[in-house]
Amino acid sequence: MNCVDDFRLRLAGRELVPIVIGGMGVDISTAELALEAARLGGIGHISDAMVPTVSDRRFKTRFVKDKLKLYKYNVANTDKSDVRFDLGHLAEATRLHVGRTMDEKRGDGMVFINCMEKLTMNAPKETLRVRLSAALDAGIDGITLAAGLHLGSFSLIEDHPRFRHAQLGIIVSSLRALQLFLRKNARLDRLPDFVVIEGPLAGGHLGFGMDWAEYDLATIVTEIREWLQAEELNIPLIPAGGIFTGGDATAFLEQGAAAVEVATRFTVARECGLPEDVQQEYFRASEQDIEVNGISPTGYPMRMLKSSPAIGDGIRPNCEAFGYLLDSAGRCGYIEAYNREVAKHPEAKKVAVVDKTCLCTHMRNFECWTCGHYTYRLKDTTRRRGDGGYEILSAQHIFHDYQFSKGGTIALPPDGESSP
Ligand SMILES: Cc1cc2nc3c(=O)[nH]c(=O)nc-3n(C[C@H](O)[C@H](O)[C@H](O)COP(=O)(O)O)c2cc1C
Repeated sequence: MNCVDDFRLRLAGRELVPIVIGGMGVDISTAELALEAARLGGIGHISDAMVPTVSDRRFKTRFVKDKLKLYKYNVANTDKSDVRFDLGHLAEATRLHVGRTMDEKRGDGMVFINCMEKLTMNAPKETLRVRLSAALDAGIDGITLAAGLHLGSFSLIEDHPRFRHAQLGIIVSSLRALQLFLRKNARLDRLPDFVVIEGPLAGGHLGFGMDWAEYDLATIVTEIREWLQAEELNIPLIPAGGIFTGGDATAFLEQGAAAVEVATRFTVARECGLPEDVQQEYFRASEQDIEVNGISPTGYPMRMLKSSPAIGDGIRPNCEAFGYLLDSAGRCGYIEAYNREVAKHPEAKKVAVVDKTCLCTHMRNFECWTCGHYTYRLKDTTRRRGDGGYEILSAQHIFHDYQFSKGGTIALPPDGESSP
């Protein structure tokens, strides 16, 4: 019986362990987590979601405070179109986050950055160009284009000196999305170096409608593989979403996948950015505690724990400090929902907003507990502590379990491996 370690991912002339830890914003897939994947010979992702905020936390910069100070006059205004990101600050934050991570990289693996198109930041093109270019400037090994179709993203960086050398890939959830991307970028004569195919069981935003349950990852992977073969295009394919055991991963590799992308198992790693009390919520969750809902202002369905504090919360929009989801006209679905509730309940001290959430604020504060479908199986991957909680795992333990375990087995941590 094969295991993941019998396979290698060939990328950039190198041979890697075919395990990719997916990007998890905001700073859930920390530099520490990504660096562990690289040290162990695979690929880890940091995320550029809310990168000035992440930089403030990591490097004690003051990007958020300074932005809030600049736009304080606008806090009570329902029109947020004035609120702009300073592109110099955005570049600096990205360079800090990426540069420091790359300086600390050890081992034979790689570190990529997950770059979400839906973070439109009131200037979609300009802010995306800055984030992509600054990540390349700071030496990132690769970029994974995520959360959006990214039809124009390659052209934003086509003049960058690393455009043809860095590993650039895209996440798609359908053959159609991939075809569109390839068609739009044909003139650049540069194929993506890899394609992550994300199925409906993934965490974070989903590239499906609310009918996500009608889709199946293996079917989409086969469809894309057969089409690429017919077109004589050789692009490494990396399935993602619901690959929970080494056996699940091996099955995809045996079918011709170049690697697998996984995330949910690592949400309970010590190196993950989620606070431990939130990790315990993930462990405790049962299948009924998880839902896919429409509260993200991005318009994409998102999977999360039903007990997330973000659900139903009616906080005042925080765009002057954050504002990552403002579209090119300075609008966000949450602002509209919030204003509607305030107009309905003019006397209320605090309103409840159930149809949308202030995703920036709640992701920043780890209050939107987004998770993969199989989160309810995390409790089977560890031991129970004396106090009733679950042992937090090391990223190395989880990575090695994917790499070496066979069939559907999951190795538990050695007794007392992780202290509470
Ligand atoms: C907590 C969490 C946060 C995530 N955040 C992002 C994100 O910011 N951007 C993104 O492209 N994918 C995100 N994802 C998706 C993962 O990168 C990955 O592709 C997917 O979850 C893999 O499936 P699995 O979680 O079932 O292993 C997230 C996943 C989880 C579990």
